[in-house]
Amino acid sequence: MIFFDHNATTPVDERVLEVMLPFFSRFYANPSSLYKLARLSRSAIDTAREQVAQLVNARPEQVIFTSGGTEANNLALKGCLSNAKIITSAFEHPSILQSGIAELVGVTEQGYIDQHSLAQFNQQFDLASFMLVNNETGVIQDIASISNIMKQRGVLMHTDAVQAAGKIPVDFQALGVDLMSLSSHKIYGPKGCGALITSTGQLKKPLLTGGGQEAGLRAGTENVPAIVGFGKAAELACVELEARRQHCFQLKTHLEQQLLDFPEIRVFAKESNRVANTVQFGVQNCVGEMLLMLLDRQNIAVSSGSACASNEQSASHVLLAMEVEENLAKSAIRVSLGKDNTLDEVDYFVQKLRQILTGLSC
Ligand SMILES: Cc1ncc(COP(=O)(O)O)c(C=O)c1O
Repeated sequence: MIFFDHNATTPVDERVLEVMLPFFSRFYANPSSLYKLARLSRSAIDTAREQVAQLVNARPEQVIFTSGGTEANNLALKGCLSNAKIITSAFEHPSILQSGIAELVGVTEQGYIDQHSLAQFNQQFDLASFMLVNNETGVIQDIASISNIMKQRGVLMHTDAVQAAGKIPVDFQALGVDLMSLSSHKIYGPKGCGALITSTGQLKKPLLTGGGQEAGLRAGTENVPAIVGFGKAAELACVELEARRQHCFQLKTHLEQQLLDFPEIRVFAKESNRVANTVQFGVQNCVGEMLLMLLDRQNIAVSSGSACASNEQSASHVLLAMEVEENLAKSAIRVSLGKDNTLDEVDYFVQKLRQILTGLSC
């Protein structure tokens, strides 16, 4: 199987699995208990908190572990202010868009948040949420400058950095945001774990109440193995970030060069500042889902948009927001590369794509 869907999820790195395993069996104590075995669990969580903090240049006490990026996004939007008026963009993840948004800012055809229309919003908002990297196009947003505008207007600023961490350097302090969401399974960690990074005092209302874990901001016995795995994945992402980026860039460049030979293919946001692993393209007169199935028959896993929306037959909301024509948006295929993919796999993919498109009137 050739796995080209790393923005949907990543395999757990062997080194991550190795550090997780003892916490399923030997070190199983509840970290809130007071005996020695429990202190081992507690100390493993503390280490993971430091590792995650380091990945995004935050302080360990700013890290709140959650069940993933979705929960972190919900917590950010629902946990700071009561009845907050929220502003966000039209191409955010559903976990943001379905959180009681007041107003949507448009995006440009190049896949950027439209800062011009953002500046023209006269209404007062309490909270702004804008993603750092778009999960479909891979376009990197200028969050530092947006958060600067928001600061001047006294608006609290959240960024969904789920698709950015591990792919580009992410600096919580330098971005000037108040809240940031992360997810473990996008960086070769386990699923069901993530974090919300918060500047002091911003988060007031937990989504889950109970035993007072995570400084009272996220109750529930900690998922120790997953948190330990997330920490290790964050440490590896820190150390290997540049090597992974260069590797993916080489593969992506090779892929995009070859896609130029297909007159029916258009790479979305091609000239924009994108992460090194993501290529989203449309195929004229083709249906993305059908192409996905035919590639799957050749043992190639890609996405036809965002995985979370792939059970819906509609066009990608991200591409529609970028004013891509509906039929072309419905033909979208997203290739998201990972650290273990190879040039041979890219060549195989292009060869199979060519065969499929030649034999098929879509
Ligand atoms: C940009 C973005 N935010 C949030 C999420 C949700 O993360 P999780 O799967 O950990 O809930 C995803 C997952 O695809 C994502 O791409």
